[in-house]
Amino acid sequence: MKKIVVLSGAGISAESGVKTFRDSKGLWRNHRIEEVASPIAWNNNPEMVLEFYNIRRKQLFEEVKPNAAHYALAELQNNFDVKIITQNVDDLHEQAGSKNVLHLHGELKKARSTADERLVYEMKSWELNIGDKCELGSQLRPHIVWFGESVPNIEQAIEISQTADIFMVIGTSMLVYPAAGLLNYVNPDIEKYYIDPNAKNIPDIRNLKIIREKAGIALPIIAKDLKIK
Ligand code: APR
Repeated sequence: MKKIVVLSGAGISAESGVKTFRDSKGLWRNHRIEEVASPIAWNNNPEMVLEFYNIRRKQLFEEVKPNAAHYALAELQNNFDVKIITQNVDDLHEQAGSKNVLHLHGELKKARSTADERLVYEMKSWELNIGDKCELGSQLRPHIVWFGESVPNIEQAIEISQTADIFMVIGTSMLVYPAAGLLNYVNPDIEKYYIDPNAKNIPDIRNLKIIREKAGIALPIIAKDLKIK
């Protein structure tokens, strides 16, 4: 089976009602990154950080559903070995049925010990508050990679990218590293797609097909084409 490797970003979940970060109505227009998504924020005002993620987690538990793009990728598993590397902290790829999903920036539905980062817990509901503790008695934090923190899964993501027969970049501004650098590890000869209605930061790379369309529209068509090729 040919291997399709996908790098997805906030744009793939936009049609599910999840806000992107850098678009005109994106999250970083109304929130200062350093106040909600950094270790400094956590030290200075953990209540505000928890509230920021509680709002997003509540939406994920109660409202948000996968869209046609997530489902098209899941369906490709019938014909391809599909590996998804996502910058998203939602679980919409998994909800749609994708089996191989690597989260680069953490997972919203998980909480982690502040005493031992290996202690990660699946959350049963949306709320995480001050006073919620791990088994060692330390405060729990969102299982999110904040700005300024290292990206533990990047080595694995590089290895996966190197093995791709087809590579797709979907719904990301390609501004945040190391994720944006993954294309550099992809075999230059293989077919690559960049699907984003506002694709701007276009990597200077061979065999890259740019599709300026919403993921929910473009992906079902691309998936169909790939299957009959
Ligand atoms: N389909 C595909 N792409 C879309 C759609 C859509 N329906 N709607 C918007 N987009 C595109 C935008 O054009 C933009 O290029 O999605 C991209 C979203 O970019 P960002 O908001 O920068 O999100 P992302 O690239 O995922 O951000 C990377 O930055 O803040 C951090 O940790 C956060 O994982 C995130 C990382």
